[in-house]
Amino acid sequence: MGIRIGVCGTGSFARAFIPLFQAHPAVDEVVLADLLPDRLAEQAAHFGVARTVDSLDALCDSDVDAIALFTQRHLHGPQTLQALAAGKHVYCAVPIANTEAEIRAIVQAVADTRLIYMTGETSYYYPATLYCRSRFRAGDFGRFVYGEGQYYHDMAHGFYEAYQHSGGAEWKRVAGIPPMHYPTHSVSMILSVTGAHVTHVSCLGFDDQHEDGVFRPGANLWDNPYSNQTALMRTSDGGMMRINEFRRVGWKGLASVQMSLFGTQGCYQEQANAQAWVTLADGPEDVTALLETRNLPVEKTAGVHEAVLQDYHMSVSQVHSVERLPREFAGLRNGHHGSHQFLADDFVKAVVTGSLPPNHVWAAARYCLPGLIAHQSSLQEGAMLPLPDLGDPPADWPLLDLDTKLQ
Ligand SMILES: NC(=O)c1ccc[n+]([C@@H]2O[C@H](COP(=O)([O-])OP(=O)(O)OC[C@H]3O[C@@H](n4cnc5c(N)ncnc54)[C@H](O)[C@@H]3O)[C@@H](O)[C@H]2O)c1
Repeated sequence: MGIRIGVCGTGSFARAFIPLFQAHPAVDEVVLADLLPDRLAEQAAHFGVARTVDSLDALCDSDVDAIALFTQRHLHGPQTLQALAAGKHVYCAVPIANTEAEIRAIVQAVADTRLIYMTGETSYYYPATLYCRSRFRAGDFGRFVYGEGQYYHDMAHGFYEAYQHSGGAEWKRVAGIPPMHYPTHSVSMILSVTGAHVTHVSCLGFDDQHEDGVFRPGANLWDNPYSNQTALMRTSDGGMMRINEFRRVGWKGLASVQMSLFGTQGCYQEQANAQAWVTLADGPEDVTALLETRNLPVEKTAGVHEAVLQDYHMSVSQVHSVERLPREFAGLRNGHHGSHQFLADDFVKAVVTGSLPPNHVWAAARYCLPGLIAHQSSLQEGAMLPLPDLGDPPADWPLLDLDTKLQ
């Protein structure tokens, strides 16, 4: 018998995952929940979903085994804790939470209950990350020296629409979230390759002057004045990282999330729409074609910016192991550089087998905490701050064998 998954939040991002959960052979039923009845009814009709409920509360009271949260990013912490307290396994779109206290509470709840928690970190399955992880494990990088991770996403490329879509008249209160409160795409690209964690961070912020008034003290829930933030981080393996989180930047590239990684023996360098591998012995090898994911034709969707839609309509690259995916996924959309199908499959397999997905709660904490502390540092004009580390998963909790086949 398969599992029942409740998808909470039927805004724009959930639409990329509902068909994947529906198609997975180990999922018996997908239930939808949203606070907005019209949106909920429309999405249920679109995806042919029979059962809907009107809130996360109702989903927690229902018989679903797992809840997949696709709600606004500042709600994830309390909602995850609520779902875990109701005995549900949790998949949550990034970030894990908005405060250190929430992250600590989630890690503790998972450790106590042994429920599956997974952060939906799309960067984990980006071609560049897969390529570097494989090379790093093979020793081709040597020792990690330095990594650059960046997420460049101007407000004009879909964020106005995204925040107004669910935020109503109060949308600026949430849109002004500190960029470093959403660090996980860029931080995870480096840490999921090296396996280290951040020990110290120093960060500076760009004082926003834009007429939209989103990033201003008093205008948002965090009194945040910064639209762009740059952090320098020390990692536990003795290396260094530079993370850029920019929301006001004249940038339009194929990939808004990018990384470069330098080791003592080899380096991976990413620039606008081009990627190269370099070693001490050999000059640049162009790996752009190897790591390319192709956009599928975009279906226009009211209220969703074209740049965001492009992200949801991508296929796989040559470095994705599609053979591990359920064959039922063949032909379905696979957004964010081929990552969606792998994330959906990881979660279902983890719940069914009781083993830890790669993006488990301890990894999620390491992807997010550096940004939360970075923001504090930027408010102190770059003070170097130490970082708490919430440790590794318990040794007796096995990691998921990603090649597990489920019927
Ligand atoms: N690459 C990525 O990983 C990526 C990309 C896009 C979005 N995201 C994340 O996905 C999440 C969703 O983004 P989106 O653009 O779809 O947001 P959205 O605002 O379009 O949708 C959120 C939905 O959640 C619903 N909701 C909130 N609280 C609820 C509750 N208690 N019960 C039931 N429904 C509730 C809202 O009514 C809304 O319909 C965000 O956290 C965002 O950060 C991640």
